[in-house]
Amino acid sequence: MTLQSRLSDAFGEAFAALGHDATFGVVVESSKGDAPYQCNGAMAAAGAAKKRGEKLNPRDVASAVAAHLADNPLIETLEIAGPGFLNITPSAQALAETAQAISEDPIRGLSAGAELTIVIDYGGANVAKPMHVGHLRSAVIGEALKRLMRARGHTVIGDAHLGDWGLQMGHLISELAIEQPSLIYFDEAYDGNYPDISPVTMDDLARLYPQASNAAKDDADRMELSRVATADLQAGHKGYRALLDHFIAVSVEALKEGYGRLGVEFDLWNGEACVDPLIPDMVEELRHAGLAEEDGGALIVRIEREDDKKEMPPVMLLASSGAVLYHTTDLATLVDRKAQINPDLILYVVDQRQALHFEQIFRATAKAGWFREDQLEHLGFGTMNGTDGKPFKTRDGGVLRLEDLMEMMQTAAETRLTESGIGADFDPEERAEVARLVGLAALKFADLQNARLTNYVFDPERFTAFEGKTGPYLLYAAVRIKSILRKADDMGAAFGPIIPEDPAEVALVLALDAYPKAIALAAEKRAPHILCDHVYGLAQAFSRFYTNCPILVDETPEVIRASRLSLAKATLEQLEHGLGIIGLDVPEKM
Ligand code: ARG
Repeated sequence: MTLQSRLSDAFGEAFAALGHDATFGVVVESSKGDAPYQCNGAMAAAGAAKKRGEKLNPRDVASAVAAHLADNPLIETLEIAGPGFLNITPSAQALAETAQAISEDPIRGLSAGAELTIVIDYGGANVAKPMHVGHLRSAVIGEALKRLMRARGHTVIGDAHLGDWGLQMGHLISELAIEQPSLIYFDEAYDGNYPDISPVTMDDLARLYPQASNAAKDDADRMELSRVATADLQAGHKGYRALLDHFIAVSVEALKEGYGRLGVEFDLWNGEACVDPLIPDMVEELRHAGLAEEDGGALIVRIEREDDKKEMPPVMLLASSGAVLYHTTDLATLVDRKAQINPDLILYVVDQRQALHFEQIFRATAKAGWFREDQLEHLGFGTMNGTDGKPFKTRDGGVLRLEDLMEMMQTAAETRLTESGIGADFDPEERAEVARLVGLAALKFADLQNARLTNYVFDPERFTAFEGKTGPYLLYAAVRIKSILRKADDMGAAFGPIIPEDPAEVALVLALDAYPKAIALAAEKRAPHILCDHVYGLAQAFSRFYTNCPILVDETPEVIRASRLSLAKATLEQLEHGLGIIGLDVPEKM
């Protein structure tokens, strides 16, 4: 248990013993410098008493609580301030116990207790289209949430949910039919086994798709070809389905590599296409339940409610052409997840601009009784913008490929390394690898440190700075501790019990103590930025500690050195653990 929760328990007991609600005892970090912690429950308790018609002075409540806790061994001093704040300074004994627990296990107490099965739907890349800057945020945020929930002890399944079932497939098929009409996939008479080897590469797909969609833009006949191909595919055309399976396989291979380079890994590569077989039964079920109704030839589910403040258009199950839509595949995916996984919770990490889409399918799902609405959450996010305040584009206004974005970051990181004189003695390969890690850390941290829904401006120079709240600063902090520990090892220095004496040591112990709470809060609020704040605060606390408390110099007595080394080691372990959750890999040296 953390020191802060032990204090909360003690205060809770005191409030309860005095006839108040124990929840008033919650202890929080202090906003002012008077003491590390404070309890503001006296005012709340007086407020509650007033509601019952009792008159209590909050300062009297605070004094009674303080008197009750006078002999508590966790507390050094307890001061009453203002209207009834209780400022709490923990005792040396409490600090030593806490430090001991932390050095034994710097990442203790993270589990949530009640473990859930959670599906996280993120990534959401589309088959045949190269990954671009627009795919960054879902991947980075989704991956962080996945790792965060796992750290809490939940079973988490990350699903890439490929976009592979819309008009874009019809575009590809029809374009390929124009280019290579003699392929057996287009031979109506052929009904045998289609070859295992794909007739197209990823480069072919990346070329065919824009070719087709551009051609169809102002040519209705060309568009019709794509529409018909889409309809035929969805109606079960065997050759088209075989082609689609190739498109998917080729794309997934490329996507695995692309996401892999970002440090993002999925457990499932399911997509829209793989739930298509479930659609007829699902539609039947919705009809049978009286939820699906015809509307001008289309099949819809009405989802509006009396208290709706905004217009709530119906869910579109089938277009009047009979075509399956984005709503339909997402609903069928829920039917599939229910049957295959039966998760307690599904989190969708998708651009905020799709908020209405998710509200619609969540309502329809709840009406159908597949999931409760509180089991489905859309976690939207804002956009990464250029300096013009619009979603980031290349200089000529095109979409920036993710690959190119990462290269830009690596180059920016290389410049920073040169400027800072870091890695001057590395061989070129080692240096490039460090630059890659620094660039990636810069990009991810800059993204995750914002509250999810905020937009931010892409600024490689600011992101890669080694000073300030940046990924590179954090990597550097961790690498520095690694190097201290290496030197200590060379000197044969020993580790020993942590004795927090210097205020900077105390502050570092308290910062370490706050980890489980930061993890719990970040998970509960689906807010990786809370964890970013924690690791940044921890790195700063370490920096102050290292400035004020020399470790390896001759003058430091052995017991103190041993204590400080243990504190440094615990900090590194927690820092690396936290950075690992937000997806930052720490190099051995820098
Ligand atoms: N492929 C979609 C897009 O590009 C994102 C998919 C998000 N996930 C979902 N279950 N709808 O917009």
